[in-house]
Amino acid sequence: TPVAVLISGSGSNLQAMLDKAAAGVLAADIRLVLSNRGDAYGLARAAKCGIPTAVVEHGAYPCREAFDTALVAAIRKSGAEVVVLAGFMRILGPGFVTAFSQRILNIHPALLPSFPGVHGQPDAARHGVKISGCTVHFVDEKMDHGPIVIQAAVPAHAEDDGKALGGRILALEHRIFPQAVHWLCTGRLSIVGRHVRLAPADV
Ligand code: GRF
Repeated sequence: TPVAVLISGSGSNLQAMLDKAAAGVLAADIRLVLSNRGDAYGLARAAKCGIPTAVVEHGAYPCREAFDTALVAAIRKSGAEVVVLAGFMRILGPGFVTAFSQRILNIHPALLPSFPGVHGQPDAARHGVKISGCTVHFVDEKMDHGPIVIQAAVPAHAEDDGKALGGRILALEHRIFPQAVHWLCTGRLSIVGRHVRLAPADV
């Protein structure tokens, strides 16, 4: 399945997907890597694999809707049918979400619905949780809110700060996010109300 990956930074989740697609265990045909920041290292990761990249800077647009429209146009041009938000740090408006309805996945570095927002790891560490983790979910009109596809948990230690806990979580992100994208790309996910159902693999 043709996929567009949206990033804003390092792109380690993107790298995990590139590696698994190259190894033939991820049924994603990554057609485009798009960043809202020209300095995102993930762009270099894509270029190294010969994958087309695009930079659509939010500051270049008069409003959120115009930015979303530019994103949709770039993604549609690539032929992508699935959109993966891998550390993409912009909120997407209803125009974008409906353009790719039920085909956008996001990774969040906490166990939603706990600790939504851009500081999930430090918020959890500061709260003194004993268990944290990461969540892959479908993107809907609200931030970090859509139906959950898969989660993974890690122990949190008293001396953890956001960075330490974040690093432990990131290693699991690199496992569950490609897995969720593979399930979506192989048509095994369906949404019933708030619940995501995983169909059995074709035997
Ligand atoms: C990850 O921590 C992810 O949970 C969050 O942004 C970070 C992306 O990291 N959404 P990378 O750019 O994939 O390395």
